Amino acid sequence: MKLLITGGAGFIGSNFIHHILEKYPTYEIINIDKLTYCGNLENLKKVEDHERYKFIKCDICDKEKIDEIFQEEKPDFVINFAAETHVDRSILDPDAFVKTNFLGTHILLEAVKKHGIERFLHISTDETYGSIDNGKFKEEDALLPNSPYSASKASADLLARSYFKTFSLPVVITRSSNNYGPYQFPEKVIPLFISNILQGKKVPLYGTGKNIRDWIYVQDNCEGLDAVLHDGEDGEIYNIGGGNEKTNLELTQIILNELDKDDSHIEYVDDRLGHDLRYALDIEKVSKIGWEPKHTFEDAIKKTINWYLENEDWWKKLQTKELEEYYEKQYGA
Ligand code: NAD
Ligand code: DAU
Repeated sequence: MKLLITGGAGFIGSNFIHHILEKYPTYEIINIDKLTYCGNLENLKKVEDHERYKFIKCDICDKEKIDEIFQEEKPDFVINFAAETHVDRSILDPDAFVKTNFLGTHILLEAVKKHGIERFLHISTDETYGSIDNGKFKEEDALLPNSPYSASKASADLLARSYFKTFSLPVVITRSSNNYGPYQFPEKVIPLFISNILQGKKVPLYGTGKNIRDWIYVQDNCEGLDAVLHDGEDGEIYNIGGGNEKTNLELTQIILNELDKDDSHIEYVDDRLGHDLRYALDIEKVSKIGWEPKHTFEDAIKKTINWYLENEDWWKKLQTKELEEYYEKQYGA
């Protein structure tokens, strides 16, 4: 079985590649990634010479190159992780989000149509539903995204589904909640707050700190994606949620506590524009194909903090001029 994975040098994609190579002794992986500021081949150092792994630098918006790769590699499954993923960056500059997340997905869908792929797993997100004050989102609920990021992801999600309805393409879609774990780029809240504390900085908490996210350990998500890839049904959408709702203030205090720091390290800053209050997913459908999260938040957040403590070199190398310039734009410094 040959898997073509897009965006495999990012956070979830690289964890997924490690998971697949370890679990399936015969599966081959082709990882295609543009290597944006978020793509990092260090995440794949352990497998770079693996006989069943190959990396190709490629933008999913490059139609000709995508066509050549599909022609040459003849993958069985395509899994589309490639995306611009940071909500705050989409507020500052949405262009790349529309291009990669929507047009890039379109180019992949066309390639899947042309080359007769067995399964196209499109990685979507819980943010496509928008915010929910009470209850949990089900797969058939309307998509009401609130940021350019989530709107671009919702557009791609709907386009992928339309290729199943119109062209009978074997598309499956997952919408997962907030992931955390090793190799997450340190602009996202958990690695940002851990790395800030380790550098003696404060942590910028948006607005009141009362917004709620549902956290899933990345390994649990990878197992959920694996279950959907193998056992999901064509044309279906699967929520993958961790069942660990925390306000951002609660999350911040857990991190501070683990690092022996108190609330004086919190700096309340202006709220994110259009900030979704709460995400929550109903996971009944995916549980019917035998998946459920295995990690408790309490254990996995400790494991995650330890990983960032033990891998300072990894995240310190990512404190680049690009990141500095982004924060200058973000905070107007
Ligand atoms: P990430 O930003 O860490 O990684 C994205 C990867 O995509 C990077 O390696 C980047 O170089 C690559 N990429 C970007 N533009 C590309 C292009 N045009 N062509 C080829 N490669 C390109 O993201 P992540 O957190 O690992 O998220 C992966 C996927 O999962 C995304 O589709 C995201 O929307 C979705 N998702 C993420 C979360 C989360 O909590 N992180 C939750 C739900 C869904
Ligand atoms: O829900 C899934 C989504 O989770 C994915 O689709 C996105 O790709 C991923 O980036 C993530 O989006 P969020 O916006 O929820 O994640 P982020 O880490 O940016 O923020 C989490 C919460 O923390 C959010 O309510 C905003 C808040 N926050 C974030 C940052 C970066 C802060 O309070 N301060 C910060 O500095």
